[in-house]
Amino acid sequence: MKITVVGAGAVGATCADNIARRQLAQEVVLLDIKEGLSEGKALDMFQTATLNGFDTKITGSTNDYEKTKGSEVVVITSGIPRKPGMTREELIGINAGIVKGVAENILKYSPKAIIIIVSNPMDTMTYLAFKELGLPKKRIIGMGGILDSARFKTYLSMAMNVSPNDLHGMVIGGHGDTTMIPLTRLATYNGIPVSRFLSEEKLQQVAADTMVGGATLTKLIGTSAWYAPGAAVATLVESIVRDQKRIFPCSVYLNGEYGQKDICLGVPVVIGAGGWEKIISLRLSEAEKATFAKSADAVRTMNNVLST
Ligand code: NAI
Repeated sequence: MKITVVGAGAVGATCADNIARRQLAQEVVLLDIKEGLSEGKALDMFQTATLNGFDTKITGSTNDYEKTKGSEVVVITSGIPRKPGMTREELIGINAGIVKGVAENILKYSPKAIIIIVSNPMDTMTYLAFKELGLPKKRIIGMGGILDSARFKTYLSMAMNVSPNDLHGMVIGGHGDTTMIPLTRLATYNGIPVSRFLSEEKLQQVAADTMVGGATLTKLIGTSAWYAPGAAVATLVESIVRDQKRIFPCSVYLNGEYGQKDICLGVPVVIGAGGWEKIISLRLSEAEKATFAKSADAVRTMNNVLST
């Protein structure tokens, strides 16, 4: 198994590190446009092999796509991240050009790869990749909902003072501060609805904190986060590589599911060796359905920017 991560910045490097530590591949190639960056980070990371107990080979590449040849999974994190006060949507113009160029180069050497899009605005970049690359829809997966759900469970655990590992919850819809939908009604503490433990007001606060989870970190750190994003991508990669059939909310191309067509948006999907294998249809309440439709409208407006 060979996995390529494009973009050796904060998220890409953390993702490669997680993939190596979990021994998900024989080789991880880290590619970046910036001279020397990926080679340096790859070597530094490979030097942790005897310390962290893995034997995955990590190779760097300054824009030489031949080194990525034969990758089965490719993660695209290249692009610019947001600065404090910026929305993910403001990144659209620059990142669209980067994502398209990178994905085309990748496919020249790895035509069978499953492509994971991380660059923001992620739903729009995933849609762009689907439209431009002509790949089967199941091989293009946008990662955002796994991260947002991890943040949701973390905020729930802080509010309830219990382990996040006993909590289940999902965030669907767009991967944006105003478009994501933390499904508070369906969240459980080991199968028991969290509404049994938290007041409606507290639950709404958890949802609000989740929605601005990324912005909160950007404000604190000065740039966007990387530990949880990198780990979230590796968790998605793991389900593909080990064919685990785990259910995660991912941005995938919808063709009528959840009442939406011709859009990539976060919905629960089964992730396995074939990429996203099946969309899980949740029974949403009327209010949740309306919020999902609103989220889709906002993402569609952003997608339209691509053609202007
Ligand atoms: P970063 O600035 O640390 O790294 C980006 C890297 O991409 C840089 O090293 C840059 O040299 C490289 N790059 C730019 N153009 C390239 C090209 N044409 N070919 C190859 N490499 C290129 O940024 P960071 O923090 O790693 O974030 C990366 C992207 O991921 C951003 O768009 C950010 O908004 C997004 N993001 C998405 C998340 C999600 O849940 N979907 C979570 C966190 C970040």
